Amino acid sequence: MTARATGRLIAVLIGAASLTSAHAAAPAGEAVYGKYCASCHDQTEARIPARAALMKLSPAHILKTLDFGAMMSIAYPIRREEREAVAQFLGHGADDPPPPASAFCKQDHPIMAGPAGDSWAGWSPDASNARFQNAGSAALNAAQVPKLELKWAYAFPGDVTAFGAPAIVRDTLFTGSAGGVVQALDDRTGCIHWLYQASGPVRSGMAVASDGGRTILVFSDQNGWTHAVDAKTGKQIWRKRPEEHEATRLTGTPAEHDGVVFVPAASWEETRSLDPEYPCCTFRGSITAFRARNGEVLWKTYLVDKPKRTGQTAAGTPTFGPSGAGVWSRPTVDAARGLLYITTGDNYSHPATSTSDAVMALDIKTGHIVWSHQMTSADVYNSACGAKAVNCPADNGPDFDFGSSAILVHLANGHDLLIAGQKSGMVYAFDPEQQGKPLWQTRVGKGSANGGVQWGMASDGHALYAAVSDVVRLPPAAGSGADASHPAGPIGNSALDPNKGGGLTALDLASGKKLWFAPPTACAPPRPGCSPGQPGAVTVIPGAVFSGSMDGQIRAFATADGHLLWDFDTEKPFSTVNGAAAHGGSLDGAGPVVAGGMVYANSGYPRFGGAPGNVLLAFGPKE
Ligand code: HEC
Repeated sequence: MTARATGRLIAVLIGAASLTSAHAAAPAGEAVYGKYCASCHDQTEARIPARAALMKLSPAHILKTLDFGAMMSIAYPIRREEREAVAQFLGHGADDPPPPASAFCKQDHPIMAGPAGDSWAGWSPDASNARFQNAGSAALNAAQVPKLELKWAYAFPGDVTAFGAPAIVRDTLFTGSAGGVVQALDDRTGCIHWLYQASGPVRSGMAVASDGGRTILVFSDQNGWTHAVDAKTGKQIWRKRPEEHEATRLTGTPAEHDGVVFVPAASWEETRSLDPEYPCCTFRGSITAFRARNGEVLWKTYLVDKPKRTGQTAAGTPTFGPSGAGVWSRPTVDAARGLLYITTGDNYSHPATSTSDAVMALDIKTGHIVWSHQMTSADVYNSACGAKAVNCPADNGPDFDFGSSAILVHLANGHDLLIAGQKSGMVYAFDPEQQGKPLWQTRVGKGSANGGVQWGMASDGHALYAAVSDVVRLPPAAGSGADASHPAGPIGNSALDPNKGGGLTALDLASGKKLWFAPPTACAPPRPGCSPGQPGAVTVIPGAVFSGSMDGQIRAFATADGHLLWDFDTEKPFSTVNGAAAHGGSLDGAGPVVAGGMVYANSGYPRFGGAPGNVLLAFGPKE
């Protein structure tokens, strides 16, 4: 890394740290340690690093471990400022080293110098969210797919999760990481153009906006910040919090239209509610429209009304509502109709609203709600329900959020369809010409709190391809330290059934009828974190559809009949172009990305019982 880049990294970290000191009553790190950490780290158990060992780490490393490392499932109920306080209290070590000079691009690899077609500009190559790459931009055909082999691997040093949604602009790949570093890499070799340290883990993909000669990337982090960065230099243009709420969690990729970016907001409040003293719940899902150039807010739409005090729990903690209806996915731009389609999550507390688990259309100029269809009513749920804790609302719902974007499809007959898949395992089609009138619905999975359709479907204009998670959790093994009230082990949440879950269904667009079903493959050998579930987003090119599974396999299927074209096991160690140790794990969250004859996938997702990993893989056909 250049001295300038190092200076920038440090400057951003200091910026993030000074935020904490602004808080009036910062919690004492020692008290947080006593409440949440001492029971394990003050004892002498071989598997648990002792307090003295933790003190050798840097505060930034400890924070990362809590935010998206080995301790993330323990840290769910811990508030932001408590995390920062305990990291400051414990950490006395130096920061993790920067990557070696050899990992950076030389002058013969200029940034964004490739052809315009070599792009995948965001969550989907275009605003429709269909995750379809056309033949020209894919530069990869179905006959070449069986010949795909690994070309290079890139490590996210020290991370246990690789969940960023890569974007590609003119031969340059941009991806966030759990450590909060956004990297600009050469898409042929994986050499580094620049690194940008965000204020939290970056899972969101990039919105790509152009401003005269400048390309602006807009993305969000899991600590509630949205960043705008110059794509050429990696320099920050602006950084803002779309929501003030402490538990704001931004995972959805911003959408872009005409120099305006639409940032979806969701939160950590569901998991905060595991703490019986947490007053549940006050977060409101929203969409904020920012001007990409300067971060000016053009409009903001909240999806539930301001919460009011509603009563108290059995433990005497005050309760608030309405809350929730977070947006986890990238909004869909319908420029012809001047609409922005969004899908929403559940309510966290009573009263239930009509805007949770809904597919909605907003006026793209004003943010006003034009129409809304709720698919599951009275879905009032938070993580306390899974743990049978006091913050679970009475008559709680099934937790059937929409986690994936609605897809806008143009049919050959000139009609358009809007299609949305839900964690319930249902796929719905709506008519965008008739206020979203429901057209058909088809069940593709059993559905559960961990999905049904979880992160995304794909369509090539001929069919819809929907993969399902349907993971099945096994009762905790005796002696694992996990039980119903403490489902969280240090990594992952519970053991998964190695034989249940997954499957990919192709549906006819006009009727919703099933065309074919590619059955899941039981994971072998059964091991911790292994499930055949396919929660990750699906990707399609002419002739081939890509879908990863929690057992670490990335596969491609023929769009004609679903037969297997290609299979690669990512759950193993890799040697990497940036020299750091890397291992693959579960494929979940963001799906594969195809551009310029290459396929890219992030591997590693230890949430919900999956296998950890920290690697970005790049595949191309054998010559
Ligand atoms: C239920 C027991 C338990 C609790 C509670 C717990 N930890 Fe841990 N922690 C572990 C175990 C076990 C590991 C080792 C995980 C591994 O190696 O996969 C670990 C690892 C870590 C590491 C990683 C060390 C490294 O080498 O990177 C850090 C940092 C850490 N814990 C911090 C904390 C903090 C801070 C808290 C309190 C907020 C906490 N832990 C609460 C059991 C616990």
